[in-house]
Amino acid sequence: MEIIKIKSANGVVTVPGDKSVSHRAVMFGALADGVTRISGFLKSADCISTINCFRDMGIEIKMTDDVITVYGKGMNGLTKPKNTLYTGNSGTTTRLLCGILAAQPFDSEMTGDASICKRPMGRVTKPLSLMGADIENEYCPLRIHGKPLSGIEYDMPVASAQVKTALILAGLYADGKTIIHECEKSRDHTELMLAAMGADIKTDGLTVTVGTTSSLSARDISVPGDISSAAFFIVLGAIIPNSEITIKNVGINPTRTGIIDVLSEMGADIKIINERISTGEQVADIIVKSSRLKGVTISGAIIPRLIDELPVIAAAAAIADGQTIIKDAAELKVKETNRIKAITDEFLKCGIDITETDDGMIINGGKPICGAEFTTYGDHRMAMSLAVLAQLADGTSTLDDADCVNISYPDFFSDLYSLSLNSSL
Ligand code: S3P
Repeated sequence: MEIIKIKSANGVVTVPGDKSVSHRAVMFGALADGVTRISGFLKSADCISTINCFRDMGIEIKMTDDVITVYGKGMNGLTKPKNTLYTGNSGTTTRLLCGILAAQPFDSEMTGDASICKRPMGRVTKPLSLMGADIENEYCPLRIHGKPLSGIEYDMPVASAQVKTALILAGLYADGKTIIHECEKSRDHTELMLAAMGADIKTDGLTVTVGTTSSLSARDISVPGDISSAAFFIVLGAIIPNSEITIKNVGINPTRTGIIDVLSEMGADIKIINERISTGEQVADIIVKSSRLKGVTISGAIIPRLIDELPVIAAAAAIADGQTIIKDAAELKVKETNRIKAITDEFLKCGIDITETDDGMIINGGKPICGAEFTTYGDHRMAMSLAVLAQLADGTSTLDDADCVNISYPDFFSDLYSLSLNSSL
């Protein structure tokens, strides 16, 4: 598919619902007593995988245009799936389900697409086994033999909300306390949502403590727009001259706003307005205007706060004057594809001065770039980041597989192109 270049980007975008929050709303709603109505749910391939898995375990879930209704059956209401649960491309579905399935009174199997079968599950299955779980394999397909679990105290070797959440979910079922120490703070949607549903869960800095929880109470959930999807427009508005974009109703949970901090440090003109709280999550509108960017160093504790945004931040770095160094980001290697290699290989095609490192990359930006025939590796965030980068390339650019945006943002291209219609070119 050819990427259409827009001359300037002006107008208002409402990005789709947060992927992390959407997955959790369905999962926790299924385990709650009563009915959970979810508005703003992200109807993308990944979140539909979560819905399908819970339907396969006997949970009734209704979908209308505006609302997803989950008829929860309580902590012990899931039934043994008839077939292997299929999680598609979704790491969140696969890893979080490990924590739930490990504690069920039935055995189950789980697998996903070619990408998911290459992603490490040992980071979840190993700590779960310390709790008494019995899960065969460290890669999908996984065979899970449900067992009674006991709480553990665990020091996480990687900052991962998926691992943390799997342990929290297992901890709800386990005997005694489960105490999890994070090495860096990762997204905390699980802790916020479960606490609001009445779970025995407390957070103190980098430590989460979970106690046995026999019931969760259903509550209506309004899912904020996904800052990981807003990220493409934040960078777009910053790098395309004569642009001003307002992105409405974006979740600005502080565990997710690393992109705003980094882009602001790079010199982007970003304003946060209409800050409010919506079902326990911070939400706001974001206004971004074009500005001249400069290179920065991105490392350490901020990395988990912007891990999914690094491909599009790399695009901003290619346009920015000077050097950007991204380090401490080895986690990029185990995302939907090896994103360190994917970014480097694709950026080199445009003539960008980029060097791959063991835990990140070094980009010397601000030089002219040319269009290219891009490969997405079936990775939604690569596709959208390359579409943003291509806007400033000389000549034509194409994507080999634009459909992979359906994983998290089915309307991405129509939203992108709508911004040129508002521009008085
Ligand atoms: C997610 C956590 C992150 C993120 C992923 C969604 C979540 O993964 O990259 O897109 O919803 O918990 P890790 O937990 O592996 O860092």
